[in-house]
Amino acid sequence: MIFYFSGCGNSRFIAKSISKALNERLLFIPEEERSGKFDYDLVEGESLGFVFPIYSWQTPRLVVEFVKKLRLVKKPTYVWMAVTCGDNGGYADRLFSQQLQESLGLMLNANYCFVMPNTYVNMAGMSVDKPELAQKKIEAAKAHLPEVIQNIKDCKQAAEMRRGIFPRFKTNVIGKNFYRWVSDEPFFSTDDCISCGKCVEVCPFHNITLEDGRPKWHGKCTTCNACYHYCPKHAIQYGKASKGKGQYHFPE
Ligand SMILES: Cc1cc2nc3c(=O)[nH]c(=O)nc-3n(C[C@H](O)[C@H](O)[C@H](O)COP(=O)(O)O)c2cc1C
Repeated sequence: MIFYFSGCGNSRFIAKSISKALNERLLFIPEEERSGKFDYDLVEGESLGFVFPIYSWQTPRLVVEFVKKLRLVKKPTYVWMAVTCGDNGGYADRLFSQQLQESLGLMLNANYCFVMPNTYVNMAGMSVDKPELAQKKIEAAKAHLPEVIQNIKDCKQAAEMRRGIFPRFKTNVIGKNFYRWVSDEPFFSTDDCISCGKCVEVCPFHNITLEDGRPKWHGKCTTCNACYHYCPKHAIQYGKASKGKGQYHFPE
């Protein structure tokens, strides 16, 4: 059984590829949250996997909150996580491992890491990758998938997290304070908006409605940036931070 989250498609691609190869159930965390049912019955021998993007060198809060509510009828024999990140994830694996232990009494057996195109544009100096680099990262991720799939099949231990420099500081200090700054208030649409409703469609949290033909955000946002990146007219901006920056979403 695989639970996943994705805003801009990188993690969805990884989750779908693994689920297809292993013939495992794939569940999208925001939809499971909306269903309000948190009991899951694992089939004998089924592994438990989590796939999500790294947010501020941590697991996105919505994944951690979901794990707290999760109730498993049988215990899995193998537990793994696979993250996608633009560059590195600090000690996100250690923190998630602790969270799994505390919430479910489970030990994390393996962490897998896919470096993929960056989607964070919400701060000065942070932008999407140049198209050539984005393409290279996607090719490398695709090339890495068969090994990860085989490892999961064989229930192998793995520790792939790319830590980057100052991982403790990034995860424990910057990461810990990240949600203080997360807000959808800076999002706005420009006059290029054509009222197509793509932002409404792609928002994982159903947080956007069209009012007088323009998107309105309702406060349930984790800044996954799907609205910004999927807009066909590049008409959504995040305050001044996203000015002049490009768009990216996984080519599906
Ligand atoms: C809110 C936010 C925070 C991010 N923080 C990090 C980070 O700490 N380290 C990193 O390497 N990439 C970071 N990224 C980049 C994403 O982890 C990366 O682009 C990921 O593949 C996006 O996955 P998705 O397409 O499934 O949404 C961040 C992206 C967003 C939107």
